Amino acid sequence: MKIILLGPQGAGKGTQASRLSERTGAKHIATGDIVRAEIKSGSDLGKKVQEYNDRGDLVPDEIIVEMFKPHLDGADSWILDGFPRNESQAKALEEALEELGLELDGVIALEASDQELVERLSGRRQSEATGKTYHIQHDPPPEDSDRDPGPFVQRKDDTEESIKNRLNIYHKQTEPLKDYYAERDLLTTVDATQAIESVTKDVLAAVGEKV
Ligand code: AP5
Repeated sequence: MKIILLGPQGAGKGTQASRLSERTGAKHIATGDIVRAEIKSGSDLGKKVQEYNDRGDLVPDEIIVEMFKPHLDGADSWILDGFPRNESQAKALEEALEELGLELDGVIALEASDQELVERLSGRRQSEATGKTYHIQHDPPPEDSDRDPGPFVQRKDDTEESIKNRLNIYHKQTEPLKDYYAERDLLTTVDATQAIESVTKDVLAAVGEKV
């Protein structure tokens, strides 16, 4: 399985990719996680990308493509979460796949309104121990510390200003990729406003059709 999960910030790409990965064994490759890990390492690259991340801006293409590429190697089944985000990245992905002799199976676009997305991102909490994502109402962090000891914190880029900026960038640069992949007969859309498990069911059905 080689698929892309496309969608606006807060649509549930990370949530669904992690559930899909648990159920199918496919590797979950999230460029946001790669960026946050680099920031946490304190490296020069981490310091450079932190400014973009905290503002909610895209990391420049040449930097993110180099950070992303090594993660494609070695896994024969993967779910891309957060990459590509514009046409130039989509083309870079095509070239990387061609070099590796691989082919994309499909693209699943998760769809939800901006109003719903802002509510979701404001309630999002991430575990510092496991990196797992929760929502204070829709998917509360477990009370049992054996399952996830936390602490459960709000991401630095989940401020109102950064959320608005990220959604603007999504509509301008990432949303046109739906047409790009529809033209290549790779796109399936899923209603991401349903409950988390219903979205998972629809995504699994779409993956089944595409793979
Ligand atoms: P990234 O971490 O990818 O952030 P993002 O794009 O803002 O996406 P999110 O993680 O916010 O959304 P999601 O769709 O994964 O939602 P989630 O599952 O958490 O990227 C961070 C930064 O890195 C970028 O801003 C940029 O700087 C840089 N970057 C990354 N990739 C890049 C690239 N390709 N190019 C350049 N720069 C790049 O769900 C959200 C919340 O909703 C959670 O609380 C969840 O529990 C809840 N939820 C999920 N589904 C449901 C549901 N069905 N019902 C109710 N609640 C739900």
